[in-house]
Amino acid sequence: MKGLYDFCEYVSSELTRTHPLKMCEIGSYMGESTLIFASQMIFDEIQCIDPFEGVEEFNEISNRDWVDVEQEFKLNTRYFDHIVLHRDYCENVADKFENNHFDLVYIDANHSYEDVKKNIELFLPKCKTIISGHDYQQEWPGVVRAVNEVFGAPDRLFADGTWMKKLP
Ligand SMILES: C[S@@+](CC[C@H](N)C(=O)[O-])C[C@H]1O[C@@H](n2cnc3c(N)ncnc32)[C@H](O)[C@@H]1O
Repeated sequence: MKGLYDFCEYVSSELTRTHPLKMCEIGSYMGESTLIFASQMIFDEIQCIDPFEGVEEFNEISNRDWVDVEQEFKLNTRYFDHIVLHRDYCENVADKFENNHFDLVYIDANHSYEDVKKNIELFLPKCKTIISGHDYQQEWPGVVRAVNEVFGAPDRLFADGTWMKKLP
């Protein structure tokens, strides 16, 4: 997770405009990345989107069901009152936000080419400064292909595979 802390440091140095600063995390799972974002105290509003349902390999590996996962999310985020959870698919939630609502969008949902591309295209208009996501790595060719197709290449990569693009 060191890469994500480095990314937060970068975000903090880039987002110099006045508060309130707002971010959206697409795919929160047990809230581990949410906790890292929240604990850096950069944002005044963190909107998290996750349906907590469907096939998730890590549930099978760790013998968890979605009830456990959601409970873990609540436990991990319990000290923060600026986190809003949307228990739904991001495609059903995107329209709740005005264009340019978010200073940062972080995409870590399904990693297939089609889903990553769809999620980038859906949330790009909602984002005014930095769009980013997880797992830009060889193991996730769909993420690499989708990001490259939309942006040419990321502006910067971090040790955990976090990619980012600063918007003009
Ligand atoms: C890799 S996990 C997220 C891990 C989390 N960001 C972390 O690092 O702690 C992927 C999550 O994306 C969620 N997801 C899958 N499709 C989604 C969609 N269309 N919209 C929102 N979340 C989705 C899954 O339910 C799962 O919890």
